Amino acid sequence: MTADQHHERPHPPWDESYTTDDPAPWDIGRPQPAFVRLADEGRLAGRLLDSGCGTGENALLAASRGADVTGIDVAPTAIKRARAKAAHRGLAVRFEVADALDLGQLGLNVDTVIDSGVFHVFGDDDRARYVASLAAVLRPGGSCYLMCFSDQQPGDWGPRRVRADELRSAFHDGWAVESISADAFEINPIGGTTQVQAWLAAIRRS
Ligand SMILES: C[S@@+](CC[C@H](N)C(=O)[O-])C[C@H]1O[C@@H](n2cnc3c(N)ncnc32)[C@H](O)[C@@H]1O
Repeated sequence: MTADQHHERPHPPWDESYTTDDPAPWDIGRPQPAFVRLADEGRLAGRLLDSGCGTGENALLAASRGADVTGIDVAPTAIKRARAKAAHRGLAVRFEVADALDLGQLGLNVDTVIDSGVFHVFGDDDRARYVASLAAVLRPGGSCYLMCFSDQQPGDWGPRRVRADELRSAFHDGWAVESISADAFEINPIGGTTQVQAWLAAIRRS
C-alpha cells in the first residue's frame, strides 16, 4: 500500500459508535480513574493533546486542572459532543476532527499527550505510524500517558489485547518507556462487566 492509498483509506466507522442510542462501552460520561490519578499527581499539565479524545472527558479533566488542552478525534459526532460539554462546563478546550495518524498537520508542539484507548485500535502497520505521529507533536522531554487493553484481560471480545513488550517495542526508538503498570478501564456494563484490564504506560520523548 502506498502512502497515498493509506491516507485515502476510509477509517472504520468510528462515528457510528457515537450515533447509537446506547453509549459506546468506553463512553462512560466521566474521566477514566487512571487519568484522574495522573491529574491528581500533577501530570496532566502544560500544553496537552488528548489523542482520540472521544467525547472529551479526559481532556476536560485536564483543562479543569489548568492544562491548555486540545482534543482530537476522527469521529465528528464525538467532537460535537465534546464541544458541547466544554461550553456547558465553561472550559476552553479546542476540540477538532483530525486523524491521530497524521498529527503533524495540526502544527502543535505540546508538553503532554494522553491516549485513553486509542493505541490499541491500530493494527501493526498503523502502530508505527501512530508513534511517529505522536512524536511529531510532543516536544523532546515531553510525556505521553497511554492506556490500552491488556493481554491480562480474559476473553476475546473488544479490541485487540496488547502485551507490555509490544508497547516497549512500539516506543523503542526516540522514546524512554518509564513505566508500564497494570491498571483498568472503567466501561459501561457489558454482561455485568464494568472494568477491563489495561496497561497504563508513562513514556517520555527523548
Ligand atoms: C476506545 S475509543 C476511546 C475514546 C476516548 N479516548 C475515551 O477514553 O473515551 C477510541 C477512539 O479513537 C478514535 N479514533 C480511532 N481512530 C482514530 C484516528 N485515526 N484518529 C483519531 N481518532 C481515532 C475513535 O473515534 C474513538 O473515539
